[in-house]
Amino acid sequence: MKNLIERAHVARAAALDALSKVIDEKALEDFYVSFLAKKGSIPGLMALMKEAEDKAAFGAAVNKARTEVVAAYESKKAALAEKALNLRLAREKIDITLPGEPTPLGHVNPYRLIIDEVTDIFLEMGYEVCEGRDVETDKFNFELLNVPKDHPSRDMQDTFYFGDDYLLRTQTSAAQAHKMSEMEEKKPIRMIAPGKAYRRDDDDMTHSHQFAQIEGLVVDKDISIAHLKATLELFAKKMFGQKREIRLRSSYFPFTEPSVEVDVSCFNCGGKGCPMCKGTGWIEILGAGMVNPRVLEACGYDPEVYSGFAFGVGVERVAMLRYGIDDIRRFYQNDFRFLKDYPVK
Ligand code: DAH
Repeated sequence: MKNLIERAHVARAAALDALSKVIDEKALEDFYVSFLAKKGSIPGLMALMKEAEDKAAFGAAVNKARTEVVAAYESKKAALAEKALNLRLAREKIDITLPGEPTPLGHVNPYRLIIDEVTDIFLEMGYEVCEGRDVETDKFNFELLNVPKDHPSRDMQDTFYFGDDYLLRTQTSAAQAHKMSEMEEKKPIRMIAPGKAYRRDDDDMTHSHQFAQIEGLVVDKDISIAHLKATLELFAKKMFGQKREIRLRSSYFPFTEPSVEVDVSCFNCGGKGCPMCKGTGWIEILGAGMVNPRVLEACGYDPEVYSGFAFGVGVERVAMLRYGIDDIRRFYQNDFRFLKDYPVK
């Protein structure tokens, strides 16, 4: 009997000794299999029960051995888990005092700032904003605007064509033709259409094959040139300062009759004459006119009932004046050194 109890002690001591040599979780698993699993040496002691004379004493010795080995195993397991966790924490430690990597923020192209500003001014006056489209047909870009196929004014707007009928619009005026034609009931219109236009120009400091325009169109009963003048004067004051005045110079556009070019008194020198206004005191900012009755008619409006005015602003030109930008190509080169001078929006 003594022998049997002795064997329980020996098995316990062997287990504790083996456990003391366990240094990682893999070895702990092997230990469990050898000593504590069903076929391990500690539960295996129970097989000796039938040989024991004093079964109670032997059972107590086996229980004691098992309890001790299990407790030692659990505490080893906990210690190893803690060690692994500490290792991981040390490896994944983040130094929150390190300065962060700056994330470069995008900037708004300055021509967009002008579009936003102009749009706000006209929204306040109750205009709606129409989108228009960059790829147009000959019909909307030219024909409905009173520019038939061999019209000489087409030469002024050398065009990018796709096949015979499709083209990159040369002017946002195409949006006027869309708006008027698409009105199911021919009701009054007050709209602006900002967007890009394209011409086969050789690019230099003042010419670009792509540029932005803002088109404006008002159609209603009894619209006269006085409305045109008052609207553009209000616009010029809001855009360039309350002291600004405008003047209209006679001009020619096929889609307006009469047509005018609109100058604003120089916002740099107040009209005295400076390099910005080339000494004249005036700066040209847009083209405008009364909608040609032929355009109204082509787009389904009865020119006996309706009249209207229209205008087109060159956006980059205004941006160049406003921000002192000397080269129109900067607007599309996407050079961050240029863009970074303008606000983040
Ligand atoms: N479409 C003209 C251009 O690109 C600008 C323009 C002039 C638009 C007079 C108009 C207008 O609506 O009435 O040069």
